[in-house]
Amino acid sequence: MSETRETTNDSAELKFRIQFPPAESHANHRFLSGGARIVEKLSPIVTVLPAQRRRTSSISSSVRGQSPRNRRDSAADNLSVPIIATGGIGDARGIAAALTLGASAVQIGTAFLRCPEAGTNPAWADGLAELEPEATMPTLAFSGRLGRAIATDYVRAAAAHGAPPPAPYPVQRALTAAMRDAGGASRDVHRMQAWAGQSAALARAEPVGQLVLRLWQEAQALLPAG
Ligand SMILES: Cc1cc2nc3c(=O)[nH]c(=O)nc-3n(C[C@H](O)[C@H](O)[C@H](O)COP(=O)(O)O)c2cc1C
Repeated sequence: MSETRETTNDSAELKFRIQFPPAESHANHRFLSGGARIVEKLSPIVTVLPAQRRRTSSISSSVRGQSPRNRRDSAADNLSVPIIATGGIGDARGIAAALTLGASAVQIGTAFLRCPEAGTNPAWADGLAELEPEATMPTLAFSGRLGRAIATDYVRAAAAHGAPPPAPYPVQRALTAAMRDAGGASRDVHRMQAWAGQSAALARAEPVGQLVLRLWQEAQALLPAG
């Protein structure tokens, strides 16, 4: 199953949600003939290597859990397509470390959520400030698909022993819609879908242009010249 998201008149993003479509599929053909690049989001090297044999243009390597350093080193040594490091990166040190370990670029998500341009609900944005990684949890409870969120009362209750299992996507998404809407309207983070990566505390409430410029300047200062 895949989803197409038009981003501008000239570009579009094809997001593979469940499995990578075969190279000869209509979706692949349409995008590749238009000059699109395919980015696959994978973590362990065992899944990264087969990806290279498909028509992948670059790999988005999200290294949660153990030995991120070894995994990125190993991926960089074994791949000929660019690696985009992602997951838990939100400051110059993380950017410089990922590039030093062989990534061609980094992808940042959560660290942008407190930028005014993100329009994040204030209860969610405030919940990210000083959020410890241990105060986040992977959960299926909002949509039936796995994502890491602030460990709110709802997320914890959904993971508790005896809690009903989440319905498959998109049924669970529909089941939680009323609660999420009400949570957003009343600014109650405990009823909101408050996604948060493990470096949420690195998110700064500053304009996005300023944030990107500052991170890159600080990262460059940490990297060897040239
Ligand atoms: C608001 C928000 C929405 C997200 N939506 C998706 C999504 O639809 N699909 C997906 O694969 N990842 C999604 N992610 C996870 C991002 O891929 C993740 O943030 C990215 O890997 C960067 O990690 P970081 O948030 O630790 O910087 C989302 C993250 C955030 C913060």
